[in-house]
Amino acid sequence: MPVIIVENLSKRFGDLTAVDNISFEVDEGDIFGFLGPNGAGKTTTINILCTLLSPTSGRAFIAGHDCSKEPSDVRKAIGIVFQDTTLDKDLTAYENMMLHAYLYGVTRGEIKTRIDDALRFVDLYARRDDLVKKFSGGMKRRLEVARGMVHRPKVLFLDEPTLGLDPQTRANLWEFIVELPKKHNATIFMTTHYMEEAEVCDKIAIIDNGRIIASGTPEELKKTVGGDVIYIKTSDNDKAKLEIEGLFNLNVSEKNGELFMTTLKGDACIPEIIKAIGEKVLSVRLQRPTLNDAFLKMTGRQIREQNGTAEDTVKEAVRAYRRRSEK
Ligand SMILES: Nc1ncnc2c1ncn2[C@@H]1O[C@H](COP(=O)(O)OP(=O)(O)O)[C@@H](O)[C@H]1O
Ligand SMILES: [Mg+2]
Repeated sequence: MPVIIVENLSKRFGDLTAVDNISFEVDEGDIFGFLGPNGAGKTTTINILCTLLSPTSGRAFIAGHDCSKEPSDVRKAIGIVFQDTTLDKDLTAYENMMLHAYLYGVTRGEIKTRIDDALRFVDLYARRDDLVKKFSGGMKRRLEVARGMVHRPKVLFLDEPTLGLDPQTRANLWEFIVELPKKHNATIFMTTHYMEEAEVCDKIAIIDNGRIIASGTPEELKKTVGGDVIYIKTSDNDKAKLEIEGLFNLNVSEKNGELFMTTLKGDACIPEIIKAIGEKVLSVRLQRPTLNDAFLKMTGRQIREQNGTAEDTVKEAVRAYRRRSEK
C-alpha cells in the first residue's frame, strides 16, 4: 500500500482555491518531488498532510491514518523541515535535538544514541555543542534534517529545503537527503522550484495554480518534450541540411551557424549522421531535455519566472560573501 494517499484534496482561502482537487500516491521508500512555481499550493498541501491545516474537501492518508480523523497517529509517523527555519538560535545543536526528541517521545535510554547518530549522519557531530546562531545556512538546514529524522518517522517532509542556499551548499545538502531512504528506511516528500534538483526524485508531481498538471518519473516527464536536440556545424550547412533531411527524415533548422534537429535517442543518431553526410563536421553537441523544458512545454512559462529575479541573485551573492567573511 502507498505510504501517502491523497484523494480529491482541495483547500480554499476565501475566494482563492489554493489546492484544487488534487490526487496522488507516494510509494514507500521513494523520494517524491512536488514541483511548482511560487504560490502553486505546495506548502498548503504539506500543511494539510502534516495535519496543521484541515482541507476544504477530499481526504489524505499517511501510513494508513486519516490526516483529518487521526491527526496524532499521523504526527507520529512524520517529520517536517519547514520552509522557514524553526531552530532555536540561542540553543546548541545538541539542545535543539534534545528538545525535539523529548517532544516526540523518544525514550530516555535511546535519546543520546539517536541524536549522536543523526548528527554524525549530517556531519555536525563535532559542532554539537555550538550555538545554532553561529551556524551557516547550510549547517542549519542539515541540523533541521537531522532533527526531522530523530524520532525515525516513516515520512519526512522537506518544504523547499534548499531555498536561499548557494549552489555548492545545495549540492552538499542533497548528498545527505538522497541517503535517507536507504539509511533510515524513510520516504521523502519534498517540494522545490529548482527543477534540476527534482532529477534525483523517483516520482514527481507538478503543481501549477493548485492543480496537478503532470506526474511521473523524471524520464517520463522529460519525454513529453519530444526528444533530444542535436546541434551540428559543418563545412557546408546548406548541403548538409539537405542530406540529413533526405536520409533521416528529420526536420533540420539553422541558427547561429549551427544546424539543429529534434530526435529520439540523439546519442545513437549522432554517429549515423556524421557517417552519412559528405561535409566536414566542425562541431557536434547534444542537448537532452530538462524538467524545466517539460514545465515550459506544459505551461508556456519558466518555473522560476517569479523567483529567479536579479534581486534574488544579489541577495544570494551577499549571503555567500557574508559566509566567506564569517570563516
Ligand atoms: N493562510 C492563508 N490565507 C490566505 N491565502 C493563503 C494562505 N496560505 C496560502 N495562501 C495562498 O495560497 C496560495 C498557495 O500558497 P502556498 O501553498 O504557500 O504556495 P507554494 O508553497 O507553492 O509557494 C498562494 O496564492 C497563497 O498566497
Ligand atoms: Mg511554499
